[in-house]
Amino acid sequence: SQSVPLKVMISGAPASGKGTQCELIVQKFGLVHVSTGDLLRAEVSAGTDIGNKAKEYMNSGHLVPDEIVTQMVQTRLSLPDAKERGWLLDGYPRSLSQAESLEKMNIRPDICIMLDVPDTTLIERCVGRRLDPVTGKIYHIKYFPPENEEIKSRLVTRPDDTEEKVKSRLQIYKENTNAIVSTYGSILKKLNGNRPKEEVFSEIRGLLTDVQKQREDETKSG
Ligand code: AP5
Repeated sequence: SQSVPLKVMISGAPASGKGTQCELIVQKFGLVHVSTGDLLRAEVSAGTDIGNKAKEYMNSGHLVPDEIVTQMVQTRLSLPDAKERGWLLDGYPRSLSQAESLEKMNIRPDICIMLDVPDTTLIERCVGRRLDPVTGKIYHIKYFPPENEEIKSRLVTRPDDTEEKVKSRLQIYKENTNAIVSTYGSILKKLNGNRPKEEVFSEIRGLLTDVQKQREDETKSG
């Protein structure tokens, strides 16, 4: 049977595990992963106009101006693959005005997952994070070390992953998180993200499976 494309939003503090869970969600549900952080980093490394404008904000741990990010998200979500396969929006919206922009465009998720992790854990996760520029996979020097020496030798760190910048990112997150809670209250699921990643994912998988079933029933009953 044809399944209904899911629309999922994931939010949470820096290093709460959004990207890690998105890898697992994409594997299982085949959604199109739209991460504003990843899209912006790609613009920065390609040296585009957007990238040049965004770079300083990102490297200092501040938010990139709304108009840049909102335009990017709107463009990406309107592509045919996102409409056919469903989408997984990661790192957007991040403020009241971004949430309002989505509402204005009539873009509403079926469910909004929020990962909850204590501050001290977040800082340790950021400082130990490493990225594989070849596969895009996320590692951690202690929790998820690379599989072999070849991968290990090519891993990179993000310029905004120093302890000082993480604290600033966390502060900005806290100032804005109420906007998400108030906009998506009725479809918001807050999960404990301070557990092994498989455990967090198994809860997410259960939630998404339920939403999918619910959507299918609605479609059948017209
Ligand atoms: P973005 O890339 O979105 O960064 P972020 O929100 O700070 O989130 P992170 O990518 O740091 O963390 P994550 O939650 O994905 O965690 P991960 O899975 O990697 O944004 C970067 C910048 O772009 C912003 O600061 C801003 O400048 C700009 N930007 C982006 N969106 C914007 C917007 N909407 N508006 C304006 N500006 C915007 O995990 C972290 C580490 O922990 C990894 O090492 C991982 O291996 C490890 N880990 C994950 N899960 C577990 C677990 N369960 N147990 C142990 N370790 C774990």
